[in-house]
Amino acid sequence: MFHPDCHRTPSMKLDSNLESPILLNRALPLRLGRGNNRIQNKIRVEESEAIYTMAERYELQSQSGKGKMPTVDRTPTGIPGLDEILSGGFPRGRVILLVGGPGTGKTILTSQFLMNGIKIYGENGAFVSLDETKAHYYREMALFGWKFEELEKGKKFAFINASPLRHMPGEVKIGRQSIGRKDFSILSLIEGIKTHTELINAKRVVVDPVTSLIFQYPEMVERRTAILDLVDALVKTGATCLMTTELRAMGPTVERAIQLEEYLAHGVVIMSNAKVGKTYNRVLQVEKMRETPIDMQPRPYKISGNGIEVFPKETIFVD
Ligand SMILES: Nc1ncnc2c1ncn2[C@@H]1O[C@H](COP(=O)(O)OP(=O)(O)O)[C@@H](O)[C@H]1O
Ligand SMILES: [Mg+2]
Repeated sequence: MFHPDCHRTPSMKLDSNLESPILLNRALPLRLGRGNNRIQNKIRVEESEAIYTMAERYELQSQSGKGKMPTVDRTPTGIPGLDEILSGGFPRGRVILLVGGPGTGKTILTSQFLMNGIKIYGENGAFVSLDETKAHYYREMALFGWKFEELEKGKKFAFINASPLRHMPGEVKIGRQSIGRKDFSILSLIEGIKTHTELINAKRVVVDPVTSLIFQYPEMVERRTAILDLVDALVKTGATCLMTTELRAMGPTVERAIQLEEYLAHGVVIMSNAKVGKTYNRVLQVEKMRETPIDMQPRPYKISGNGIEVFPKETIFVD
């Protein structure tokens, strides 16, 4: 059980394709009343962490007569080409979902984001791994010249091995209370994130990948609560956070689940292979990004010994 004191209400627009109510304190824009009243409601919600679409922001500005779109603080990735299609970087303090099939470069991209954060921008970072051990991760990243082990010693980087959470027994006792394995794994993960990010004052956090954790929940309502709890915990760190998940298109159930994650995150970036003629090209597409005018064109990217590079001016033609 999560947040038993939390009020629930059916949301008005965004919920139409989902079966269950949404958590009110998760800050969806309220659409109450009309005219100024309506705008004020939106502004008030915005101040308490609302999630906005670009259209809603523009509507807000034109109605309030304030003119230019307010600038949003950004977290540059430092990844060549990527910041260009993100108007400078990810919106600071938000939770971004990186979706991609195996081998598309999710672990590399998120690690490069952390490494650049520390080396270029002086921002500490934490990597929460749900499928790799620390030794394995350090070995793999060293191939790109990224020495996370040294940074860990200097308290600039934290590796949180959350992979044992996938192999918990059926029930876990906390004092006299017994709680289910899946709830325990989410709660432990949240606790681990909180403790470690505070310890090193992390400004960037990665959770890689969340897929298996979320798939513990066959029920949509429970799954949504689990994702929201994770997103909520990440938002509370104050850091700019990336979560990765495996690509959709593996059958209707998977597709549905991924849609739910995408819908609940503040931004979504998709990494995939596009077939052009007889060749496959790696492409990256920013599907949504709150508070950010984005380039939605799929852009080619490459992986090399230096990590990832995106080509923001090139296009891929797919028939
Ligand atoms: N030095 C390199 N040059 C080119 N490609 C590389 C290099 N190192 C790794 N790769 C590619 O990166 C991919 C693995 O990236 P990774 O981030 O682990 O993927 P994911 O986390 O999405 O499964 C593999 O497809 C591999 O071919
Ligand atoms: Mg990976």
